[in-house]
Amino acid sequence: MLLYKSFIPIVLIGLIVPAIAQIPVKIMPLGDSITEWGCWRAYLWNKLQQGGIRNIDFVGSVTSTTICNVSDWDRNNEGHAGYLAINIANNNDLVGWLSSAKPDIVLMHLGTNDIANNKQTLEIIAAFSTLVDQMRASKPTMTILVAKIIPLSFNNQSLMDLNDAISAWALSKTTTASPIVVVDQYAGFSTSDLRDGVHPNDSGDQKIANVWYPALVNAINASQSPARVALEFTA
Ligand SMILES: *[C@@H]1O[C@H](CO)[C@@H](O)[C@H](O)[C@H]1NC(C)=O
Ligand SMILES: *[C@@H]1O[C@H](CO)[C@@H](O)[C@H](O)[C@H]1NC(C)=O
Ligand SMILES: *[C@@H]1O[C@H](CO)[C@@H](O)[C@H](O)[C@H]1NC(C)=O
Ligand SMILES: *[C@@H]1O[C@H](CO)[C@@H](O)[C@H](O)[C@H]1NC(C)=O
Repeated sequence: MLLYKSFIPIVLIGLIVPAIAQIPVKIMPLGDSITEWGCWRAYLWNKLQQGGIRNIDFVGSVTSTTICNVSDWDRNNEGHAGYLAINIANNNDLVGWLSSAKPDIVLMHLGTNDIANNKQTLEIIAAFSTLVDQMRASKPTMTILVAKIIPLSFNNQSLMDLNDAISAWALSKTTTASPIVVVDQYAGFSTSDLRDGVHPNDSGDQKIANVWYPALVNAINASQSPARVALEFTA
């Protein structure tokens, strides 16, 4: 009996892994205009293709007309110019976006408009918690990559305070089933990588893509590991 019991999960995993491996991993870039207009999404897509990671699908209701120096890329995203994290949470916007797009991984760069509008760190972090809860309601094993956001040409101190708070918050909110990975888009990014004090120029877009890349590769890879796949069926 004991042998029989331990045999079943192995057989199941053996059957499930190849089936899952065929299904593209759905990745939702979530944010504001930095996401909606950013060519970093094109550079990131290109890097993944060049890295041989092709079983992916960028998802989201926005198909921006961003013009980038990349010929063929998946434009779907959930970047909404002008949006605050606080408003997305208060208006329950994410619930509908998630139910349409059904991502496996969320790539979130959010909070810039909150900082620009002088919102309090605590209120922004509370909004992040709401959003994470909504992501987990959509998929209990959601992998969530959260950016420490790129600098602005103003409100630097409150932006740095938010980025600091993101680290502590992520530690307290992460779970084995649904990891929150902090990706530092602030370090290494300078205000000279901004074209207008807010949005990245080409150099900034390339930096953002390069910083997301290893974290996203890990997340995609981990999402397909046998342990992770098994978790999907028990979470
Ligand atoms: C576009 O990319 C090509 C090839 O990498 C490069 O030669 C060209 O200068 C780029 N154009 C712009 C406008 O960045
Ligand atoms: C923000 O402030 C820190 C510490 O005062 C400083 O090192 C950094 O260069 C500033 N960054 C920007 C974008 O102003
Ligand atoms: C934009 O990017 C270039 C590098 O491609 C950089 O040298 C420049 O200073 C950046 N900033 C602005 C405001 O153009
Ligand atoms: C992918 O994950 C496996 C474990 O599931 C690990 O052995 C391998 O090194 C990882 N590859 C990359 C590129 O991270």
